[in-house]
Amino acid sequence: MHKDVSEILFTEEQIHDRVAEIGAAITEDFREKAGDDGIILISVLRGAAIFMADLAREIKIPCEMDYMAISSYGNGVKSSGVVRILKDLSSHIEGRHVVIAEDILDSGLTLTYLLKNLASRNPASLTVATLLRKKTKVQADVDCAYVGFECPDQFIVGYGLDYAERYRNLPYIGVLKPEVYE
Ligand code: XMP
Ligand code: MG
Repeated sequence: MHKDVSEILFTEEQIHDRVAEIGAAITEDFREKAGDDGIILISVLRGAAIFMADLAREIKIPCEMDYMAISSYGNGVKSSGVVRILKDLSSHIEGRHVVIAEDILDSGLTLTYLLKNLASRNPASLTVATLLRKKTKVQADVDCAYVGFECPDQFIVGYGLDYAERYRNLPYIGVLKPEVYE
């Protein structure tokens, strides 16, 4: 285990199995609805990129991939809800079935903003798959059709999640020691 990680929450194997389950669920839920066009899977860079790469390979219907980059202003460990689009989608999503792959739902402010923004482009449907949902005291009411794991209200790293751009390459998900960021 990495010296800055205090505890492993989800092992590589647990993540793999859960991502496979979510991929199978998306396959079934969209097979008829989306037809030959399939779905567009959108990931929010950079944290969700690893989740989406693994998830896409578990989806057995036509599946395009696109990316958005956003920045939320804040002090680094807490989201402020003020979101700026740094890179927009390359594809048009009007009339398409869109699934957003998100890494972690914390306050929910980022996803609330994103859902509102994407809904205004008139997709056929807009669904959220989040790998992690934090058990926080205050969380915006975001409808997530697929949730990988519930996690404690601590700072989480690994499998795409970073602190100051580090730890994304850890194959497991763990708790970052507070002394690293305090
Ligand atoms: P909100 O609060 O808007 O936050 O739901 C969502 C975004 O904040 C980042 N985030 C984290 N990143 N470990 C991380 O590496 C965490 O514990 C954590 N909590 C929130 C993340 O970018 C997410 O998309
Ligand atoms: Mg981050």
